[in-house]
Amino acid sequence: MQKPLTVSQAIAHRRSVRNYTDEALDDELVKKCIENASLAPNSSNMQLWEFIHVKNPELKELLNTACFKQQASRTAERFVVVVVRRDLWKKRAKANAEFIGQNKAETESQIRRKKFALRYYQKLMPTIYGFDNFGILSSIKKISTWVSGIFRPIYRQVSLSDMRIVTHKSAGLAAQNFMLSMAEVEYDTCPMEGFDSRLVKKALGLPKKAEINMILACGKRSETGVYGKRFRVPFGEVYTERF
Ligand SMILES: Cc1cc2nc3c(=O)[nH]c(=O)nc-3n(C[C@H](O)[C@H](O)[C@H](O)COP(=O)(O)O)c2cc1C
Repeated sequence: MQKPLTVSQAIAHRRSVRNYTDEALDDELVKKCIENASLAPNSSNMQLWEFIHVKNPELKELLNTACFKQQASRTAERFVVVVVRRDLWKKRAKANAEFIGQNKAETESQIRRKKFALRYYQKLMPTIYGFDNFGILSSIKKISTWVSGIFRPIYRQVSLSDMRIVTHKSAGLAAQNFMLSMAEVEYDTCPMEGFDSRLVKKALGLPKKAEINMILACGKRSETGVYGKRFRVPFGEVYTERF
């Protein structure tokens, strides 16, 4: 195999590919790219995500249908589905607390940091991710945050819809880690949000509360895989300096 690309080369190589060859991808290599996805930075290290690696032909067809048989899903060699699992918050908070509990704390500052971190996962996470009866708790949190925010800087993203953004943001970073890792070994992807999420969840047997962040079509690009030259608005339009 060729030398892997550098990060900048992988970024340049990655394009949304919508036509793939019949070439089979290496299962283990793709799995490694998914492992890289799981190393993405994520909110409070709660890791409220799940990655489903789909190669089974029947499942692929169900996903293709759920993706409206769009160009990228029609010829994909396989799919990786990035799922947001807010419902796993208790399990993840517990795992974090257990991990922190195992860390040695000897100096005063280490002991203080450990106590803070344990409180963070055992007390704060339940108030953020805990059961919200019809959004009532969400409204109460929003109002009390607004009031406290009059007097001091405060974290304002506390409602249920804010939490959905928080978790999808982290899942998006994981998806990007995956796509760049695939690009590193010259495998191609296309991120898709054009799908019927109910059908995707049904095909994959996911619980009601799971949310589909992105479906990534994977394969090797065919000659017609990339639709055209990459277009971005001039960099100056999206970049400012406040030096
Ligand atoms: C969240 C997200 C959803 C997308 N959904 C689709 C999609 O459903 N179908 C598709 O063909 N491309 C989809 N794209 C690909 C974009 O169209 C593509 O990234 C954009 O045109 C820029 O092109 P490039 O990725 O080749 O740089 C999606 C991209 C992102 C980030």
